[in-house]
Amino acid sequence: MQIRRTRAADIDVLAGIEDTVFPSDQMSRRSFRRSIRSPTMTMLTAVSDGKPVGYALVHRRRGSKVAHLASIAVGPDMAGHGVGSELLRRVETDAARRGAACVRLEVRSDNSVARHLYELAGYHVIATLDDYYEDGTSAIRYEKLLATRRGRRERKPETPHLTA
Ligand SMILES: CC(C)(COP(=O)(O)OP(=O)(O)OC[C@H]1O[C@@H](n2cnc3c(N)ncnc32)[C@H](O)[C@@H]1OP(=O)(O)O)[C@@H](O)C(=O)NCCC(=O)NCCS
Repeated sequence: MQIRRTRAADIDVLAGIEDTVFPSDQMSRRSFRRSIRSPTMTMLTAVSDGKPVGYALVHRRRGSKVAHLASIAVGPDMAGHGVGSELLRRVETDAARRGAACVRLEVRSDNSVARHLYELAGYHVIATLDDYYEDGTSAIRYEKLLATRRGRRERKPETPHLTA
């Protein structure tokens, strides 16, 4: 498996994966196209046997030390084979290389597979956001501090807390 920057030619396959794995709030082809052109977004594609099998999309505002994992998805054919974990590792390496101090993300509270993936990778809960998704489901916000270039973490993880 290879992980590389997303190309325009990947979008049809990735949009198909998106429609299959997300029941709602899917990204459109147009949003994918905009993301790969955006200077503040990094989109990575996992490729197996020459075919895109998953992607991760990261957003980072100019001047911010926070890299925000906006989305990650792996096609059902390849799920459970380590693609998600590998994408996450590449997101972190790439974010650290660009000077980010941490990666943050929100995930549906009922998405146990994704939450397991993040917790295995060392992400900590920093907030619960009630009524976050269209259907009223809450979101869990996770954070992972990244090793800086000097090889140490910039600050301790925040204490988990609840927000209204
Ligand atoms: C979440 C997701 C990206 C994980 O990708 P993946 O390639 O399957 O993940 P990995 O193979 O690296 O597996 C990571 C862990 O999750 C477990 N896992 C993966 N799929 C699973 C499933 N369907 N049921 C139970 N556990 C599962 C793996 O066993 C592994 O845990 P382990 O090491 O303890 O065995 C993928 O399931 C997905 O695309 N889900 C739908 C989209 C989504 O929810 N994205 C996250 C939005 S925030």
